[in-house]
Amino acid sequence: MNNKQTEIQKLKKEKNAVIMAHYYAPAEVQEVADFVGDSFYLAKAAKKSTADIIVFCGVSFMGESAKILNPDKKVLMPDLKADCPMAHMVAPGKIEEMRSRFDDLAVVCYINSTAELKAQSDVCVTSSNAVSIVRALPNQNIFFIPDRNLGRFVAEQVPEKKVMVNDGCCPIHAAVTAQQLQKIKTEHPDAPVLTHPECEPEVLALSDFIGSTADIIRYAANSPEKEFIICTEDGVDYKLRTDSPHKQFFYPDPRPCCVDMKLNTLDSLLRVLQKEDNEVTVDEKKSIDASEPLDRMLELAR
Ligand code: 13P
Ligand code: SF4
Repeated sequence: MNNKQTEIQKLKKEKNAVIMAHYYAPAEVQEVADFVGDSFYLAKAAKKSTADIIVFCGVSFMGESAKILNPDKKVLMPDLKADCPMAHMVAPGKIEEMRSRFDDLAVVCYINSTAELKAQSDVCVTSSNAVSIVRALPNQNIFFIPDRNLGRFVAEQVPEKKVMVNDGCCPIHAAVTAQQLQKIKTEHPDAPVLTHPECEPEVLALSDFIGSTADIIRYAANSPEKEFIICTEDGVDYKLRTDSPHKQFFYPDPRPCCVDMKLNTLDSLLRVLQKEDNEVTVDEKKSIDASEPLDRMLELAR
């Protein structure tokens, strides 16, 4: 523990605060967090939390979701500028247009979305439960927002439904190309390729396993293989190496890195614990409307 981490631990106890960090947050932040996980795990942890303050080291849709699930709690973020560009990628009026075209439409909203988009949706999903939730819905027609790549992956896994996808994407995962992946595969031909479903279809087609960040980490820890190619944001490297110090992990070049997630530094975390500013707020009506699809996800994924 360095001095900043010790000070963070002290303040956290004094203020009955809990620190939640996504696997893409910097390693030194994951080290001091009480809960580290993928979006689904963190949403469940936020819902159950009894702390007075939740400090969310992630991007704004994660802080917002924690606030919507805990409207009476103080939810802080180390840096309010940490945003997920994909969370905004649905054109205004698109959801209404799709609803007018299909009577039984279910709008399925990846949790990587603004509260505004969640409030217009029927159910939220994360990358770890999207397939099972879409399969379980009574609706035949599905409009999946905002990520086209996770949407297409779900469509393939649930062929019995008509899954229509919105044309948004994660700029970090969508930047990984099949050529980059082929190159690293040539260098490590025996290493299984573990990929996040936000990657493009041609990258998924070259992969051995497709899953959320937590699924990827679990797969690598439980596999007898010693080398892996990882197609997701490189923040997972900390947990992969902690779980399996004798295994090796390789990434496409350039290594995928989410600049927004990296705004969660030890300095910004310490500062927000000291000042208690950077509070996440969500308009009350929007929060009530957005809590329904989030709660429905927690219910359906149980
Ligand atoms: P997970 O659902 O795996 O946590 O992914 C969240 C995310 O932002 C991926 O880019
Ligand atoms: Fe958003 Fe992509 Fe960053 Fe995840 S990695 S938070 S989807 S920009």
